[in-house]
Amino acid sequence: MSDAVAFPQDRTCPYHPPAAYGPLREARPLSRVTLFDGRSVWVVTGHAQARALLSDPRLSTDRTKESFPTPTRRFKGLQNRRTALLGVDDPEHNAQRRMLIPSFSVKRTADLRPRIQETVDGLIDAMVAAGPRAELVGAFALPVPSMVICALLGVPYEDHEFFEAQSRRLLRGPEPADVEDARHELDTYLEALIRRKRTDPGDGLLDELVATRLETGETDIEELVSLATILLIAGHETTANMISLGTFTLLRHPEQLAELRADPSLMSEAVEELMRFLSIADGMLRVATEEIAVGGVTIRPDDGVVFSTSVINRDEAVFPEPDALDWHRPTRHHLAFGFGIHQCLGQNLARAEMEIALGTLFRRLPGLRLAAEPDRIPFKPGDTIQGMVELPVAW
Ligand code: HEM
Repeated sequence: MSDAVAFPQDRTCPYHPPAAYGPLREARPLSRVTLFDGRSVWVVTGHAQARALLSDPRLSTDRTKESFPTPTRRFKGLQNRRTALLGVDDPEHNAQRRMLIPSFSVKRTADLRPRIQETVDGLIDAMVAAGPRAELVGAFALPVPSMVICALLGVPYEDHEFFEAQSRRLLRGPEPADVEDARHELDTYLEALIRRKRTDPGDGLLDELVATRLETGETDIEELVSLATILLIAGHETTANMISLGTFTLLRHPEQLAELRADPSLMSEAVEELMRFLSIADGMLRVATEEIAVGGVTIRPDDGVVFSTSVINRDEAVFPEPDALDWHRPTRHHLAFGFGIHQCLGQNLARAEMEIALGTLFRRLPGLRLAAEPDRIPFKPGDTIQGMVELPVAW
C-alpha cells in the first residue's frame, strides 16, 4: 500500500516527520516509495535494518551510476559530477577520509571550543546592540557555523555572502541549471583559493592539505577542490539548520526549555535528542550493486534505496514514545549523523557548535521568544535539509 507514498514530502510541522509518512511507519522496516520521476525505490524505516544496510558494501553511494536514485528534479544535472567522500565508495573513500580524520577528532574539536564561544558571544553582542528583535537565521544560526568552518578551512569569511548564496542554490535550486551552475561557481572559487595557497599559505586545513598532500602528489587539485566544496557546504548549511530549528523547537516545548535553563549541564543530551527528534538530513541515498536479503524482502542490483532518517529515528523498538522530545532517554543511538563508513565526519564539530550556540543563546537572552505566530514562520520544503527559512525572535 505504501508504494503510493511519494518521497520526499514536505513536513506538516517543522519538527515532525511529514504526516503523509504515516503508512511508512506502519510498514516498517522497509517499504516502497515513489520518487518525483515515477521511479519506485526502497525506503528503509527500521532502525536495525538501517544500521545493517548503511554498513553494507553492497550498497553504493556513487552518484555517477546510471541507476543511482535522484530525489528531486533539480539534482539530475549533478549526476555526472564526481563528489568527494559522500559520492565515492571504498577503497577510494577510505583514502580521502584518512586525509581528513585528524582535523575532525574529538581533541581538535575541543581545541576549537574557545573560538566557537568567542564567535557566538560576538554575534549575540551584535544582536543585543541592535535588539530587542532579530531574524535569528541571518543574525546567528547561519553565521556561527559559517565563521567556524571558514576559520577551520582557511576560507576568507569576507566571501561568505557568495558561498552561502551558492550553497543555497546548490541545495535548493530551484532549477537544475541553478544547481549545476552553483556547483561550478563553488568549484571555480575554491580552485582559485587553493592555487593561491600554493604560493601564499595560511594556517587552515586547506593550507595543510596543499602542503602535505597536494605538493606530495597524494592528491590532485580536482580531488582537493571536491573535498573543499563538500566540507564548506556540509560545514555550514547543516549546523545552521539545526541551530534555527533547534531554537524554534525548544521555544515550542516550554517545559523542556525550562528544565534546560535550570540545569545547563543537560545541554549535551539535549543536543543529541534534538538531533534524533529533528532528523534534518532526511533521505540518505544509495543504490544496490548486488542482491541483499533484509527485513523479509530482497533488494536487487540497481534498486534505489533511501533512508528516511526522520522515520528511522522514531522507531519505537529503540525509542519508546518516539514522538516526545525527551533527553532523559538514552540519546546516542540515533542515525541523524548517518552510520557506517559515511557517518558524518564533522559530527564532533557540529555537536560543539550546537551546544555552545544554543546554550549561550538561552543563557544570555532569558526572555527569548518567537516574534511571529509559529504557524506563519516559514520552514524548508521536504526535498532539502530541514530547517527554518527565517526565524523572527524578540527578547
Ligand atoms: C548538525 C549538523 C550536521 C548534520 C545533521 C549532518 C549530517 C550528516 C549525515 C546524515 C551524513 C551521512 C550522509 C550519508 O551517509 O549519505 C553526513 C556526512 C558528512 N558530513 Fe555531516 N552533518 C552535520 C554537520 C557537519 C559538519 C559541521 C561538517 C564539517 C565539515 C560535516 C561534514 C560531513 C562530511 C564531509 C560528510 C561525508 C562523510 C563521508 O562520506 O565519509 N557535517 N553528515
